[in-house]
Amino acid sequence: MPQEWPDPLTSAIAIIGSGPAGLITAHTLLQDGFSQVQILTRDSTVGGVWAADRVYPGLQINNVHGEYRFSALKMPPAEGGRLTGHDLRAYMEAFSQRFQHIIRFNTEVVHIRRDETTSLWYISLQDKITSTLEVLVFDRVVLCTGGCSTPNIPQPLSVAAATQAGFQGPVIHSMNFASQIDRILESTTNIKVLTVIVGGGRSAQDMAAYLANQGRKVKVVFEMADAILASPSPLPAFVRKSRLLSIFFGYSILRSRLERFLHTTRLGAIITGSFWSTLSAASLASLSVPNDSPLRNIRSLFWTTSTNDEGVPNPNRFHALVNAGKIELVSPARVRGFTPGGKCLTLSDGHMVDADVVLLATGHASSWTGLFDENTANELGINRHPPGSASSAKSYTEWDNYRSLANPPKSRPDSVKWAATIYNGIVPAKNITRRDFAINGASFTANVGYSCEVQAHWISSYFLGDQMSIPKTPEEAYERAERDAAWVRKRHPDALLRWPQYTDHLLEEMGLSSMRSGGNWLTWPFKIIDVKEIANLSEERRQSRIGAEPKP
Ligand SMILES: Cc1cc2nc3c(=O)[nH]c(=O)nc-3n(C[C@H](O)[C@H](O)[C@H](O)COP(=O)(O)OP(=O)(O)OC[C@H]3O[C@@H](n4cnc5c(N)ncnc54)[C@H](O)[C@@H]3O)c2cc1C
Ligand SMILES: NC(=O)c1ccc[n+]([C@@H]2O[C@H](COP(=O)([O-])OP(=O)(O)OC[C@H]3O[C@@H](n4cnc5c(N)ncnc54)[C@H](OP(=O)(O)O)[C@@H]3O)[C@@H](O)[C@H]2O)c1
Repeated sequence: MPQEWPDPLTSAIAIIGSGPAGLITAHTLLQDGFSQVQILTRDSTVGGVWAADRVYPGLQINNVHGEYRFSALKMPPAEGGRLTGHDLRAYMEAFSQRFQHIIRFNTEVVHIRRDETTSLWYISLQDKITSTLEVLVFDRVVLCTGGCSTPNIPQPLSVAAATQAGFQGPVIHSMNFASQIDRILESTTNIKVLTVIVGGGRSAQDMAAYLANQGRKVKVVFEMADAILASPSPLPAFVRKSRLLSIFFGYSILRSRLERFLHTTRLGAIITGSFWSTLSAASLASLSVPNDSPLRNIRSLFWTTSTNDEGVPNPNRFHALVNAGKIELVSPARVRGFTPGGKCLTLSDGHMVDADVVLLATGHASSWTGLFDENTANELGINRHPPGSASSAKSYTEWDNYRSLANPPKSRPDSVKWAATIYNGIVPAKNITRRDFAINGASFTANVGYSCEVQAHWISSYFLGDQMSIPKTPEEAYERAERDAAWVRKRHPDALLRWPQYTDHLLEEMGLSSMRSGGNWLTWPFKIIDVKEIANLSEERRQSRIGAEPKP
């Protein structure tokens, strides 16, 4: 280690957020020998989305068993096939207790500033119980504030707008469903009381199912529902837990002949399209969705990452309750706001719908907007900007030969308006050489446990100054992040999916082997990807560090 650089292992590191990303980042850094690692969280228990006061009844995970876990702790078996929200809460609590993370609870981070003279981070905190303010100083920061921890509430649907219109009932976002459930049930004891749920995603469906099962009157207003994956019996592990689906999904780099065939040839594109449409049709059929149901008004499995992975149909869940007439649907329509007098909601199609209780399942907003001091945000380069506005901006035509991408659906306006130049979704390109800031959990993945764990190792190597094949200059990082963003716009007009090709890429940047599930030329697509295959990454990284010159 060159003399002028302090020992990174004694540097004070703040991890903001105690969800899965925060927990695995703390664990990995501690395991690697970092001695001053502290988690700051506004929650009162660990788990983030899976924290005790966020898990609502009926929540089950969107993944098959064994996918959502870290390598250092086994996941107990799932009763009834699917893990519940409570199973995940218990797992996150057990993980954190077992590895004794230092956590400051009820601590909201309200402001982050880096002093450009000392390069120290000043983090302003507010104690959520006493409201006292405090500033702590750190050498490094890892942001793990999650993609589902700040509600997106369109202004015309806000509590303020409801009050102004004279609406008398509760207006509650899905993030607060668990903590407000008693209030909602008390407000709806009269069978005539109508709860309107706004949104077509998984939160809307879960809240509707819970209330319908409690005998409440529910209407759901949505334009398009999530894509759906369901089957009469669980799909075999070699389909669900292997690379198979990701191969049919395609990626910015097509490494194998099979992938090149499926995405760049005419026949391959036909097979790819048929694969996804057959899966979608079979899913709808297994849920007995009638041909004229608004529940056929869904996004395409191939083009979206908003997928409701329903698994095996169950009479107490959303689709069956809709079929049984216990949940009413109003679709396609968007809710525009409250009518004057506050008795109804206005819809995009000009109609109105009565409402006594309004539940907003309108999704989530960025968890770090407004958190950074303006100078710091500029120095870091963390803010979003119009695509292609970087100095190195150029157009990317390298995916023009992907025949599988020939007929994309219309993008949501926001997804093409903005780009963030965050290298690997982990480090703002502009800050690449400073090795004092990283983000974990910002990349959408089908396997949160595996992805966040590999990202945590990448971050640890980055902070340690390990030899990594990453850009050496901000310009190079910009160029690669812009290319990545261009791919995301091309492939996923709606969202980012990075799995498992993304984690392979991160492993390679750390100089480690990738595509660890093995297999030969014929069997590799079907080999099960197991988090056990990354259980020794710390040791592997230590071995490759021996004899290598560290980078500050
Ligand atoms: C109801 C629900 C169910 C889901 N189910 C699944 C699923 O089944 N499968 C799946 O793959 N994904 C699911 N997701 C997506 C989910 O977000 C991720 O699986 C996972 O929780 C992301 O982990 P994370 O640590 O990045 O973020 P989170 O779990 O959201 O954790 C973020 C943490 O940061 C804290 N934080 C944020 N801002 C601040 C601040 N300013 N100061 C202090 N602390 C702060 C939060 O309080 C929280 O502790 C679900 C999301 C929701 C909302
Ligand atoms: N494991 C589980 O069971 C589970 C449960 C809940 C959530 N989740 C996950 O958590 C993430 C967030 O899910 P989410 O359902 O909370 O949010 P989401 O997927 O972002 O869905 C929000 C929905 O609200 C709609 N919407 C927004 N404004 C609207 C309006 N004015 N009128 C009508 N509809 C409006 C959106 O439509 P547009 O897209 O057209 O704007 C979208 O359908 C997802 O990844 C989801 O899979 C998982």
